[in-house]
Amino acid sequence: MNALREIAFRLDDLPDGQARGFNAAGSRQHTLFVVRKGESVYGYLDACPHHGDTPMAWREHAYLNANASRIVCSAHGAQFDVATGVCTLGPCLGQKLTPVPVWIGNHREVHVMDIGITDQRGDKTS
Ligand code: FES
Repeated sequence: MNALREIAFRLDDLPDGQARGFNAAGSRQHTLFVVRKGESVYGYLDACPHHGDTPMAWREHAYLNANASRIVCSAHGAQFDVATGVCTLGPCLGQKLTPVPVWIGNHREVHVMDIGITDQRGDKTS
């Protein structure tokens, strides 16, 4: 049976307009990422829908365009709406990033659910 895992951090540790990747479930690479926009945080699998398992950041935590208005895939430049994960520009126009459950607790702590990731070899990691 696969156990769901939860990642938690303080909202104030993620500045507005920034993103952070996580090595979920013991993976050696970032397999999900979150983006803060105002008082909201959005989470997605780090897998571009253009080519299903392609990591999106060109360097650690670099998931956003220059003005932090869109999520960007570094492979072919697809851009995604931060709040919905819908591709608004690029080769996977209209497709969506896979959302990861994220919620903010009463003490401004952010909880991110590791929904069960497969690593680069295709093995289940949770
Ligand atoms: S793999 Fe992301 S745009 Fe091509």
